[in-house]
Amino acid sequence: MAACERAVAEIQSWPDYAPSRLVALPGLARSLGVGGISYQDEGGRFGVGSFKALGAPYALAAILAVRLSRRLGRRIATREVLGGAHRDACATFTAAAATDGNHGRALAWAARQAGCRCIIYVPPAVSPGRVAAISAYGAEIARIEGSYDEAVARCAQDCLRHDWLEITDTAPSTAPRTRGLSAARRVMAGYATIIDEALPRMRDTPTHFFAQGGVGGFAAAVAARLWQKYGGSRVRLVVVEPHRAACLFASAEAGELRPASGDLDTIMQGLSCGEASAPAWEILAQAAAAFLTIDESYAVEAMRLLARGVDGDPRLVAGETGAAGLAGLLAVANDAGARALLQLDARSRVLLVGTENATDPRLYAEIVGHPPEGQGPG
Ligand SMILES: Cc1ncc(COP(=O)(O)O)c(C=O)c1O
Repeated sequence: MAACERAVAEIQSWPDYAPSRLVALPGLARSLGVGGISYQDEGGRFGVGSFKALGAPYALAAILAVRLSRRLGRRIATREVLGGAHRDACATFTAAAATDGNHGRALAWAARQAGCRCIIYVPPAVSPGRVAAISAYGAEIARIEGSYDEAVARCAQDCLRHDWLEITDTAPSTAPRTRGLSAARRVMAGYATIIDEALPRMRDTPTHFFAQGGVGGFAAAVAARLWQKYGGSRVRLVVVEPHRAACLFASAEAGELRPASGDLDTIMQGLSCGEASAPAWEILAQAAAAFLTIDESYAVEAMRLLARGVDGDPRLVAGETGAAGLAGLLAVANDAGARALLQLDARSRVLLVGTENATDPRLYAEIVGHPPEGQGPG
């Protein structure tokens, strides 16, 4: 609890902080037979394209602030670090992480703000457009032949060997216990900001939340924060993963951490993870109401529905992973059995997070049929 409170307060003190917009989608709600849909659009977060700008930047700044406070003998705030007030001292540190796109981009942005060196480990599944967005912030790219999970392991080893700061958003149970565990917890604490922004602006308490699941950090963070705010099982949290990259679903079936059985090949690149994060799984094992896997076509449909705006709803830009929460809702809404199981009906108030904008504009245009509207470069 204290970790989330601290993270939210620190993030809200950053100079460029502004809450993400929360929009009502009554047309889409009517078409799906639910009482209401609130959609928090994280695409504009700190100009970095995704909600991941709440995680890696907070973890990096918090870890650097601890080191600098010790060195300088006074308390350093994260806003000073990200504001570039200690660039010379920060230049002596190297931050590193593996990514399937957005986490690395967020870390690269934060490292540039702080003035430290940054190395991002990238598996081949990450599209060239997303790699370019990371390099644009001046980060070095370490290309790894293999999966995202292999990139995570390689990054952890190199961080240990070179005494770099491992700003990971995942701590798989199979990885050696590195300092990454505390970074992964801080990353999750930063994501709690989303819930603190959304709830006061919603007219009714949400009944359902469909959360994208990659390594589980996002879903676990929102689940934990909803639990802290409301207690117990007031909001049904449904974790949504692609059929071919469903490590959280596999873990739920087994009752313990298990890798995904699929080949991880999905257009929802942010969810292309074979192993869940252990601290995230600990939370989700208790707090999630259901684990759902979806076909790729639902992500495509979700992006297109958002882009055109259903029945007068605002038009919204969401990338493949950004739209995956809605994709999960579409899959359940289409299936009478799943609807009944989750008690999704005309009284339901659904909360969704558009977790990214068109983070690869070329892929977005291919899927939606036109370039992202109203989104600047990157
Ligand atoms: C846009 C987007 N949404 C959701 C997620 C899932 O977050 P997590 O991996 O913490 O489960 C990711 C992960 O990269 C992402 O990039």
